[in-house]
Amino acid sequence: MMDSLPQIFAQANLPTQVKVYEVSARDGLQAESLTLPAEVRTQLISRLGGAGLRSIEAGSFVSPKAVPQMADTRAVLDELDLGTGISYPVLTPNRRGLDDAMAAGAKDIAVFVSVTESFSRANLGDGLEVTTARNLDVATAATKAGMRARGYLSMVFGDPWEGPVDPQRVVTAAQQLLAAGCSSISLGDTIGTATPGHVSVVLQALIDSGIPVEAIALHTHNTYGQALANVYAALQLGVSEFDASAGGVGGCPFAGSATGNLATEDLLWMLDGLGISTGVDVRAVAETSQWLSQQLGKPLASATSAAIVNQ
Ligand code: HMG
Ligand code: MG
Repeated sequence: MMDSLPQIFAQANLPTQVKVYEVSARDGLQAESLTLPAEVRTQLISRLGGAGLRSIEAGSFVSPKAVPQMADTRAVLDELDLGTGISYPVLTPNRRGLDDAMAAGAKDIAVFVSVTESFSRANLGDGLEVTTARNLDVATAATKAGMRARGYLSMVFGDPWEGPVDPQRVVTAAQQLLAAGCSSISLGDTIGTATPGHVSVVLQALIDSGIPVEAIALHTHNTYGQALANVYAALQLGVSEFDASAGGVGGCPFAGSATGNLATEDLLWMLDGLGISTGVDVRAVAETSQWLSQQLGKPLASATSAAIVNQ
């Protein structure tokens, strides 16, 4: 019988430690047609914390008309212990979102900026210049108030309306977010079109511009089955923060061609096999995904979860 953990074959020149940034309770559930009640989302977050995850996105303070699945994020934060050493970032698209996040006691926020005009309009309701300025203002205000801010960049590796994206646009946007106080920049392969060579080129452009590799995170989608290969390419350049979603739940409500996020347990299985420490128990995440699958009433996409459960 197979052991339920992979054998370890460490590789030279890869990070020895990786931060897994868990997005299922926000990015995952915002794309589901079934809206899970706040108490079930809180349970999900608690289970993920129990599995060892230390950065768990808890929801978003956005328009409830745009994203009804996250409408009661305040109720989720009310149930979480915000002082335990686990961070529970929430998305804040404007000053109102930031004010609501502060009132709820959030210590971590994330702003999100598109690198393309079309997705800015689809996701944020206005052009690139306006939405970028708005998000930079939110990041500046949050960090001045002593909160931690993360910056997401969307459509970094291609846009369904505009096609290829110039890496220099990514560099400029990342520099703006860092200058506004963001501590890390998550590069969103929103529609999952990146391949490993492409990831290396964009990362190299960021590193060559002077952005510290420690400030870079990668947010992959498995639309074309490339998510883990893309993570491996990023590991080779020293990236040590990766976004993932239990069970691979997710997509994007504002880009129809976006399918599932990289599943957390698939990421963990690879990192465990490489001997890279994460502090997260892959089996506990797989069990949580099975539980989440029951809550959503549908099977989830993670290969590792299915394999562990069938062992
Ligand atoms: P807008 O329509 O341009 O702005 O929306 P508005 O100021 O005209 O407001 C429209 C309505 O939203 C108004 O309500 C506001 O009160 C309300 P109404 O008068 O119609 O009843 N509103 C709010 N309500 C609650 N909280 C707020 C808030 N702000 C306005 N903070 C806005 C602009 C950005 C607000 C809107 O389009 C929105 O909320 N969109 C949702 C964006 C979103 O959450 N997208 C998903 C996250 S991004 C993502 O998933 C990608 C990522 O994971 C990485 C990747 O790329 O893969 C990050
Ligand atoms: Mg995503």
